Amino acid sequence: MRVDLADHVAVVTGGAAGIGQAIASALALNGAKVAIVDIDAERAQATAREISSNGAVCVAIPADVADPARMVAVAEEVSGRFGRLDILINSAGINTRRDRVPIHEFKLDDWNKILEVDLTGVFVTSRSLVPVMLRSGHGRVVNISSIAGLVPLRLQSAFVAAKAGVVNLTRSMALELGPRGILVNAVAPGSTLTAGTEALFYGPDGAYTEKAASLLAHIPLGRPARTEEIASAVLFLVAPEASYVNGAVLTVDGGWTAGYARDW
Ligand SMILES: NC(=O)c1ccc[n+]([C@@H]2O[C@H](COP(=O)([O-])OP(=O)(O)OC[C@H]3O[C@@H](n4cnc5c(N)ncnc54)[C@H](O)[C@@H]3O)[C@@H](O)[C@H]2O)c1
Repeated sequence: MRVDLADHVAVVTGGAAGIGQAIASALALNGAKVAIVDIDAERAQATAREISSNGAVCVAIPADVADPARMVAVAEEVSGRFGRLDILINSAGINTRRDRVPIHEFKLDDWNKILEVDLTGVFVTSRSLVPVMLRSGHGRVVNISSIAGLVPLRLQSAFVAAKAGVVNLTRSMALELGPRGILVNAVAPGSTLTAGTEALFYGPDGAYTEKAASLLAHIPLGRPARTEEIASAVLFLVAPEASYVNGAVLTVDGGWTAGYARDW
Protein backbone atom coordinates (compact mmCIF):
# COMPACT_ATOMS: atom_id res chain seq x y z
CA MET A 1 0.00 0.00 0.00
CA ARG A 2 1.46 3.36 -1.01
CA VAL A 3 0.30 6.76 0.21
CA ASP A 4 2.00 10.11 -0.21
CA LEU A 5 3.36 11.30 3.13
CA ALA A 6 6.22 13.38 1.72
CA ASP A 7 7.12 16.27 4.06
CA HIS A 8 4.96 14.80 6.82
CA VAL A 9 6.40 14.46 10.32
CA ALA A 10 5.18 11.59 12.47
CA VAL A 11 5.61 10.55 16.09
CA VAL A 12 5.08 6.87 16.86
CA THR A 13 4.98 5.95 20.54
CA GLY A 14 6.03 2.37 21.24
CA GLY A 15 7.71 2.43 17.84
CA ALA A 16 10.75 0.45 18.93
CA ALA A 17 9.02 -2.92 18.67
CA GLY A 18 6.01 -4.91 17.49
CA ILE A 19 3.06 -3.09 15.94
CA GLY A 20 4.57 0.36 16.56
CA GLN A 21 7.76 -0.66 14.76
CA ALA A 22 5.76 -1.83 11.72
CA ILE A 23 3.83 1.47 11.75
CA ALA A 24 7.04 3.53 11.98
CA SER A 25 8.51 1.56 9.05
CA ALA A 26 5.36 1.95 6.95
CA LEU A 27 5.20 5.70 7.56
CA ALA A 28 8.90 6.13 6.70
CA LEU A 29 8.55 3.96 3.60
CA ASN A 30 5.81 6.30 2.42
CA GLY A 31 7.89 9.45 2.84
CA ALA A 32 7.24 10.60 6.42
CA LYS A 33 9.99 11.71 8.77
CA VAL A 34 9.49 9.61 11.89
CA ALA A 35 10.33 10.07 15.57
CA ILE A 36 10.10 6.88 17.60
CA VAL A 37 9.15 7.68 21.20
CA ASP A 38 9.77 4.64 23.38
CA ILE A 39 10.76 3.81 26.93
CA ASP A 40 13.29 1.27 25.64
CA ALA A 41 16.02 3.70 24.56
CA GLU A 42 18.40 1.11 23.17
CA ARG A 43 15.80 -0.68 21.10
CA ALA A 44 14.32 2.60 19.85
CA GLN A 45 17.78 3.64 18.68
CA ALA A 46 18.33 0.31 16.91
CA THR A 47 14.95 0.48 15.17
CA ALA A 48 15.50 4.10 14.12
CA ARG A 49 18.90 3.13 12.72
CA GLU A 50 17.39 0.24 10.78
CA ILE A 51 14.63 2.39 9.30
CA SER A 52 17.08 5.19 8.42
CA SER A 53 19.37 2.72 6.65
CA ASN A 54 16.97 2.85 3.68
CA GLY A 55 17.52 6.59 3.35
CA ALA A 56 14.49 7.60 5.43
CA VAL A 57 14.63 10.12 8.28
CA CYS A 58 13.92 8.31 11.55
CA VAL A 59 15.10 9.34 15.02
CA ALA A 60 14.67 7.82 18.46
CA ILE A 61 13.48 9.84 21.44
CA PRO A 62 13.53 7.89 24.71
CA ALA A 63 10.53 8.69 26.91
CA ASP A 64 7.83 7.23 29.11
CA VAL A 65 4.48 8.15 27.52
CA ALA A 66 2.91 8.51 30.95
CA ASP A 67 5.46 11.05 32.21
CA PRO A 68 3.88 14.49 31.69
CA ALA A 69 7.07 16.55 32.07
CA ARG A 70 9.05 14.28 29.78
CA MET A 71 6.32 14.34 27.12
CA VAL A 72 6.28 18.15 27.12
CA ALA A 73 10.04 17.99 26.51
CA VAL A 74 9.43 15.49 23.68
CA ALA A 75 6.97 17.92 22.07
CA GLU A 76 9.62 20.66 22.27
CA GLU A 77 12.24 18.36 20.78
CA VAL A 78 9.98 17.34 17.87
CA SER A 79 9.01 20.93 17.27
CA GLY A 80 12.63 22.15 17.46
CA ARG A 81 14.00 19.41 15.23
CA PHE A 82 11.27 19.22 12.57
CA GLY A 83 9.29 22.43 13.02
CA ARG A 84 5.94 20.66 12.70
CA LEU A 85 3.93 17.54 13.50
CA ASP A 86 1.40 15.99 11.12
CA ILE A 87 0.85 12.49 12.49
CA LEU A 88 0.70 11.08 16.01
CA ILE A 89 0.37 7.34 16.55
CA ASN A 90 -0.27 6.26 20.15
CA SER A 91 0.87 2.64 20.08
CA ALA A 92 2.90 2.21 23.30
CA GLY A 93 1.19 -0.35 25.50
CA ILE A 94 1.62 -3.09 28.07
CA ASN A 95 -0.49 -5.96 29.43
CA THR A 96 -0.19 -8.71 31.99
CA ARG A 97 1.76 -11.63 30.60
CA ARG A 98 1.40 -15.14 31.99
CA ASP A 99 -0.14 -14.30 35.36
CA ARG A 100 -3.68 -13.74 34.09
CA VAL A 101 -6.19 -13.84 36.94
CA PRO A 102 -9.82 -12.91 37.64
CA ILE A 103 -10.68 -9.51 39.08
CA HIS A 104 -10.70 -10.61 42.73
CA GLU A 105 -7.06 -11.71 42.36
CA PHE A 106 -5.94 -8.86 40.12
CA LYS A 107 -3.14 -6.88 41.80
CA LEU A 108 -3.80 -3.17 42.30
CA ASP A 109 -0.20 -2.45 41.24
CA ASP A 110 -0.77 -4.24 37.93
CA TRP A 111 -4.05 -2.38 37.41
CA ASN A 112 -2.38 0.99 38.10
CA LYS A 113 0.60 0.31 35.86
CA ILE A 114 -1.51 -0.88 32.90
CA LEU A 115 -3.97 2.00 33.20
CA GLU A 116 -1.06 4.43 33.49
CA VAL A 117 0.60 3.36 30.25
CA ASP A 118 -2.34 2.19 28.11
CA LEU A 119 -4.85 4.94 28.94
CA THR A 120 -3.12 7.80 30.78
CA GLY A 121 -0.19 7.47 28.35
CA VAL A 122 -2.50 8.20 25.39
CA PHE A 123 -3.92 11.20 27.24
CA VAL A 124 -0.55 12.59 28.37
CA THR A 125 1.07 12.11 24.95
CA SER A 126 -1.87 13.66 23.11
CA ARG A 127 -2.17 16.69 25.37
CA SER A 128 1.56 17.33 24.94
CA LEU A 129 1.81 16.86 21.18
CA VAL A 130 -1.57 18.06 19.86
CA PRO A 131 -0.58 21.73 20.47
CA VAL A 132 2.24 21.29 17.91
CA MET A 133 -0.38 20.13 15.36
CA LEU A 134 -2.75 22.94 16.27
CA ARG A 135 -0.12 25.45 15.20
CA SER A 136 -0.48 24.27 11.58
CA GLY A 137 -4.21 23.60 11.88
CA HIS A 138 -4.05 20.08 10.49
CA GLY A 139 -3.07 16.63 11.63
CA ARG A 140 -3.98 13.01 12.17
CA VAL A 141 -3.99 11.04 15.41
CA VAL A 142 -4.39 7.27 15.47
CA ASN A 143 -4.76 5.56 18.83
CA ILE A 144 -4.06 1.84 18.99
CA SER A 145 -6.81 0.28 21.06
CA SER A 146 -7.64 -3.43 20.87
CA ILE A 147 -10.61 -5.63 20.15
CA ALA A 148 -10.47 -6.15 23.93
CA GLY A 149 -11.65 -2.54 24.20
CA LEU A 150 -14.76 -3.43 22.20
CA VAL A 151 -15.50 -7.00 23.27
CA PRO A 152 -14.18 -7.78 26.74
CA LEU A 153 -11.99 -10.79 27.36
CA ARG A 154 -11.65 -12.68 30.64
CA LEU A 155 -8.68 -12.29 33.01
CA GLN A 156 -7.43 -8.96 31.70
CA SER A 157 -9.48 -6.43 33.72
CA ALA A 158 -7.01 -3.58 33.44
CA PHE A 159 -6.26 -4.05 29.74
CA VAL A 160 -9.92 -4.27 28.66
CA ALA A 161 -10.83 -1.24 30.77
CA ALA A 162 -7.89 0.81 29.46
CA LYS A 163 -8.53 -0.13 25.84
CA ALA A 164 -12.27 0.64 26.16
CA GLY A 165 -11.18 3.98 27.59
CA VAL A 166 -9.01 4.56 24.53
CA VAL A 167 -12.04 3.95 22.27
CA ASN A 168 -14.13 6.69 23.88
CA LEU A 169 -11.15 8.98 24.39
CA THR A 170 -10.59 8.70 20.62
CA ARG A 171 -14.19 9.67 19.90
CA SER A 172 -14.07 12.57 22.32
CA MET A 173 -10.79 13.81 20.77
CA ALA A 174 -12.44 13.54 17.33
CA LEU A 175 -15.28 15.79 18.50
CA GLU A 176 -12.90 18.34 20.02
CA LEU A 177 -10.17 18.38 17.40
CA GLY A 178 -12.09 17.71 14.15
CA PRO A 179 -13.23 21.35 13.96
CA ARG A 180 -9.57 22.37 14.41
CA GLY A 181 -8.45 20.29 11.39
CA ILE A 182 -7.13 17.28 13.32
CA LEU A 183 -8.76 13.94 12.54
CA VAL A 184 -8.64 11.36 15.33
CA ASN A 185 -9.33 7.66 14.84
CA ALA A 186 -8.47 4.35 16.46
CA VAL A 187 -7.37 0.96 15.21
CA ALA A 188 -8.49 -2.05 17.21
CA PRO A 189 -6.17 -4.94 16.39
CA GLY A 190 -7.10 -8.52 17.08
CA SER A 191 -4.45 -11.02 18.06
CA THR A 192 -1.22 -9.97 16.36
CA LEU A 193 2.02 -11.87 16.01
CA THR A 194 4.77 -10.04 17.91
CA ALA A 195 7.68 -11.20 20.06
CA GLY A 196 5.36 -10.82 23.07
CA THR A 197 2.42 -12.89 21.79
CA GLU A 198 4.78 -15.46 20.31
CA ALA A 199 6.32 -15.99 23.74
CA LEU A 200 2.90 -15.94 25.41
CA PHE A 201 1.08 -18.49 23.27
CA TYR A 202 1.90 -18.76 19.59
CA GLY A 203 5.23 -20.52 19.98
CA PRO A 204 8.23 -20.19 17.70
CA ASP A 205 8.20 -20.13 13.90
CA GLY A 206 4.43 -20.00 13.49
CA ALA A 207 4.10 -23.58 14.82
CA TYR A 208 1.09 -22.80 16.95
CA THR A 209 0.79 -24.31 20.38
CA GLU A 210 -2.38 -26.06 21.57
CA LYS A 211 -3.33 -22.95 23.54
CA ALA A 212 -2.97 -20.82 20.42
CA ALA A 213 -5.02 -23.26 18.34
CA SER A 214 -8.03 -22.89 20.62
CA LEU A 215 -7.80 -19.09 20.32
CA LEU A 216 -7.38 -19.24 16.55
CA ALA A 217 -10.51 -21.39 16.26
CA HIS A 218 -12.49 -18.22 17.05
CA ILE A 219 -10.87 -16.23 14.26
CA PRO A 220 -12.48 -16.72 10.84
CA LEU A 221 -9.13 -16.21 9.08
CA GLY A 222 -7.59 -18.87 11.35
CA ARG A 223 -4.38 -16.97 12.06
CA PRO A 224 -3.10 -13.95 13.96
CA ALA A 225 -2.47 -10.65 12.16
CA ARG A 226 0.97 -9.74 10.91
CA THR A 227 2.16 -6.40 12.30
CA GLU A 228 2.31 -5.06 8.71
CA GLU A 229 -1.44 -5.68 8.37
CA ILE A 230 -2.14 -3.44 11.36
CA ALA A 231 0.27 -0.84 9.96
CA SER A 232 -1.65 -0.81 6.65
CA ALA A 233 -4.87 0.12 8.47
CA VAL A 234 -3.02 2.96 10.21
CA LEU A 235 -1.57 4.06 6.88
CA PHE A 236 -5.09 4.34 5.45
CA LEU A 237 -6.20 6.53 8.36
CA VAL A 238 -3.28 8.95 7.97
CA ALA A 239 -3.46 9.04 4.15
CA PRO A 240 -4.54 12.33 2.55
CA GLU A 241 -7.38 10.34 0.94
CA ALA A 242 -8.95 9.51 4.37
CA SER A 243 -9.90 13.18 4.76
CA TYR A 244 -13.48 12.51 5.94
CA VAL A 245 -12.77 9.73 8.43
CA ASN A 246 -12.96 11.09 11.98
CA GLY A 247 -13.92 9.32 15.21
CA ALA A 248 -13.83 5.86 13.64
CA VAL A 249 -12.65 2.69 15.31
CA LEU A 250 -11.26 0.40 12.63
CA THR A 251 -11.28 -3.23 13.73
CA VAL A 252 -8.49 -5.31 12.18
CA ASP A 253 -9.07 -8.75 13.61
CA GLY A 254 -9.63 -11.25 10.82
CA GLY A 255 -13.34 -11.23 11.68
CA TRP A 256 -12.88 -12.32 15.30
CA THR A 257 -15.45 -9.87 16.68
CA ALA A 258 -17.85 -10.06 13.72
CA GLY A 259 -19.87 -12.75 15.52
CA TYR A 260 -19.63 -16.27 16.88
CA ALA A 261 -17.29 -18.38 14.78
CA ARG A 262 -18.67 -21.71 15.98
CA ASP A 263 -21.27 -24.24 14.95
CA TRP A 264 -24.55 -24.30 16.80
N1 LIG B 1 0.05 -7.75 19.86
C1 LIG B 1 -1.26 -7.87 19.95
O1 LIG B 1 -1.81 -8.98 19.79
C2 LIG B 1 -2.11 -6.66 20.19
C3 LIG B 1 -3.50 -6.80 20.07
C4 LIG B 1 -4.31 -5.69 20.29
C5 LIG B 1 -3.74 -4.47 20.61
N2 LIG B 1 -2.41 -4.36 20.74
C6 LIG B 1 -1.87 -3.04 21.10
O2 LIG B 1 -0.91 -2.61 20.14
C7 LIG B 1 0.05 -1.78 20.76
C8 LIG B 1 1.44 -2.34 20.48
O3 LIG B 1 1.51 -3.64 21.04
P1 LIG B 1 2.63 -4.69 20.65
O4 LIG B 1 2.03 -6.03 20.74
O5 LIG B 1 3.31 -4.27 19.40
O6 LIG B 1 3.59 -4.53 21.92
P2 LIG B 1 5.17 -4.65 22.05
O7 LIG B 1 5.42 -5.01 23.46
O8 LIG B 1 5.75 -5.48 20.96
O9 LIG B 1 5.65 -3.14 21.80
C9 LIG B 1 5.25 -2.13 22.69
C10 LIG B 1 6.30 -1.03 22.68
O10 LIG B 1 5.84 -0.01 23.62
C11 LIG B 1 6.95 0.38 24.40
N3 LIG B 1 6.47 0.89 25.70
C12 LIG B 1 5.93 0.19 26.72
N4 LIG B 1 5.65 1.01 27.76
C13 LIG B 1 6.01 2.26 27.36
C14 LIG B 1 5.95 3.52 28.00
N5 LIG B 1 5.50 3.67 29.26
N6 LIG B 1 6.41 4.59 27.31
C15 LIG B 1 6.90 4.46 26.04
N7 LIG B 1 6.97 3.27 25.40
C16 LIG B 1 6.53 2.19 26.05
C17 LIG B 1 7.80 -0.86 24.56
O11 LIG B 1 9.12 -0.56 24.92
C18 LIG B 1 7.67 -1.48 23.16
O12 LIG B 1 8.68 -1.00 22.29
C19 LIG B 1 -0.29 -1.77 22.26
O13 LIG B 1 -1.03 -0.60 22.55
C20 LIG B 1 -1.13 -3.02 22.42
O14 LIG B 1 -2.01 -2.95 23.50
C21 LIG B 1 -1.56 -5.42 20.55
